[in-house]
Amino acid sequence: MNESSPIGVFDSGHGGLTILSALTQRLPWEHFLYLGDHAAAPYGERSPREIYDRTQAAVELLFALNCRLVLIACNTAAAVALRRLQQGWLARHYPDRRVLGVLAPMVEALSGRSWTGHQPLRSGMTGAGASSVAVFATRRTVESDAYPREVAARAPSVTIEQEPCPGLAGAIEQDRPDAELKDMIASAVSSLLGRHPERPPEAAVLGCTHFPLVAGHFAAALPKTTRLLSQPQVVGAALQSYLARHPERSSGAGETRYLTTGTPALVSRLATRFLGGPVRFVGVP
Ligand code: DGL
Repeated sequence: MNESSPIGVFDSGHGGLTILSALTQRLPWEHFLYLGDHAAAPYGERSPREIYDRTQAAVELLFALNCRLVLIACNTAAAVALRRLQQGWLARHYPDRRVLGVLAPMVEALSGRSWTGHQPLRSGMTGAGASSVAVFATRRTVESDAYPREVAARAPSVTIEQEPCPGLAGAIEQDRPDAELKDMIASAVSSLLGRHPERPPEAAVLGCTHFPLVAGHFAAALPKTTRLLSQPQVVGAALQSYLARHPERSSGAGETRYLTTGTPALVSRLATRFLGGPVRFVGVP
């Protein structure tokens, strides 16, 4: 990236901020341009067609704003739209730009194998090493079957048990009371554990970028023996390694700007609360 070329980070709403925080900590010299499609959040209950169209429009906007690389910091958009975007549209219209997602680094960490080529990863880059993994995600991510399919293609011995959490991303987005979020999470966890009470998962993935905002409630509801894997940390490490392998880098102090399709004042207030520091969103141009 050169100085004037930020890395675009896209999510349906607030969730991608959990990924963005990990990125700015690891890569403080990079410029980031965050785009939340708050006007259409949550994506988890929308049709695959709508998710694809909105994701393509968001990436196109970030390209128009000079991003050469866009990270889709939304499992739902990555699971439903990314492969199609990369295979057809991107090559035809923007052959010199890149779009990455949050799903591939998680699949690599869970399987211990690279996304392309399925090669064993260098030991420092495999995080999970668990043979049974619970994935909590939106309904659309679960329906796409992307996590079980992609992990099985690389590591058939790793069992993935999915649990949809309908309404949870929307409830987080709307800043619903903690007790309500806790109940939703407790019922998702108990539904998953109830299917195999004798065999609790060794690890759990919060496969929706909104969910790390309530990670404490998941940790409290899961058995003590289940390790909670951090998607923001895994994705942060993967992007750092990607940028190290690609020569254009910015230098100096990075700057982050925030765009929303929603109401900037409201979105800024909620994001500031979630992140515990001032965040100022402006409307999309
Ligand atoms: N944060 C998103 C994800 O990672 C989407 C949540 C939603 O909009 O439903 O799946």
